[in-house]
Amino acid sequence: MKPIVFLTRTLPPAVMERLERETGLAVHAENRPATNDEIIAGAEGRNALLCTVTDRIDAALLDACPSLKVIANFGVGYNHIDVAAATARKIAVTNTPGVLTDATADLAFALLLATARRLGEGERIVRARQWKGWGPLEMLGAELNGAALGIVGFGRIGRAVACRARGFGMRVIYWNRTRLSSADETACDATYATLDELLKTADFISLHVAYTPETHHLIGDEQLSLMKPTAYLINTARGAIIDERALVRALQSRRIAGAGLDVFEHEPQIEPELFDFENVVLIPHLGSATIATRTRMGMIAVDNLLAVCAGGRPPNCVNPEVFS
Ligand code: 8YV
Repeated sequence: MKPIVFLTRTLPPAVMERLERETGLAVHAENRPATNDEIIAGAEGRNALLCTVTDRIDAALLDACPSLKVIANFGVGYNHIDVAAATARKIAVTNTPGVLTDATADLAFALLLATARRLGEGERIVRARQWKGWGPLEMLGAELNGAALGIVGFGRIGRAVACRARGFGMRVIYWNRTRLSSADETACDATYATLDELLKTADFISLHVAYTPETHHLIGDEQLSLMKPTAYLINTARGAIIDERALVRALQSRRIAGAGLDVFEHEPQIEPELFDFENVVLIPHLGSATIATRTRMGMIAVDNLLAVCAGGRPPNCVNPEVFS
């Protein structure tokens, strides 16, 4: 018997072909997030829900889908899923760690460079046919070589960002809930600092912590006030790690030099004032957006759901206690 799956968004072709082949598949095929009513109707009588970051999987939805055995998330972050509610109902929740590390680290660096070298602003000028020609003082930005990069959260993605920083001649300082062993610090060529020290000394700060109740608004008025006025803040993790209103205040008062944001507190809504700053680069949650990475994420999500539906343990379970 093939497992019967409800998928909330169309995934890359190779993943869709595998799902068609190996499962009984129903898809919310529209190019927009499904509403919770649509998910409930689609998941009725099904064993597996394959969902994405734009779905809100809460207790009420789980109560309305009693046949579910597994929620396979397409992505590593799972803050949009009420894991405790799933665990209480013996539903396994899985994610896709590891396969999006490089794509996300690349994007963090793209955003860092775009912010430091004012690429968004420059492109807007050129496209508006406003460029008057080269000038010795035109659009001067910040240099990466010799600058200190402060990495907040030194897991897989934070460390991959540190590797890239070396190629740009940057000095890496990091803060993490748990400090690395000195051997690992040497291997990563990174120096530990408290969060406050990091905020005070870094020229660029890039966020790579998971979003949890503890990291909600980790960067607010107080933290922004510690940053150098010449420093830039980069976020490819989750929007609500930054208090977006506090960021607007810091930019308005020129407390910091600029920001590069791939994620937002209330996606796809963005604090309207952020659009007004030339020194802010805004991109639409593109961290894992390469065809190779999205295909790998889909394949891992399928591995996870097939394992649960076959009565086994999935390779990437975030609530393994459901199997005890
Ligand atoms: C994904 C992400 O694109 O994996 C994550 O946590 O934020 C993104 O890279 C998204 O989760 C897709 O569901």
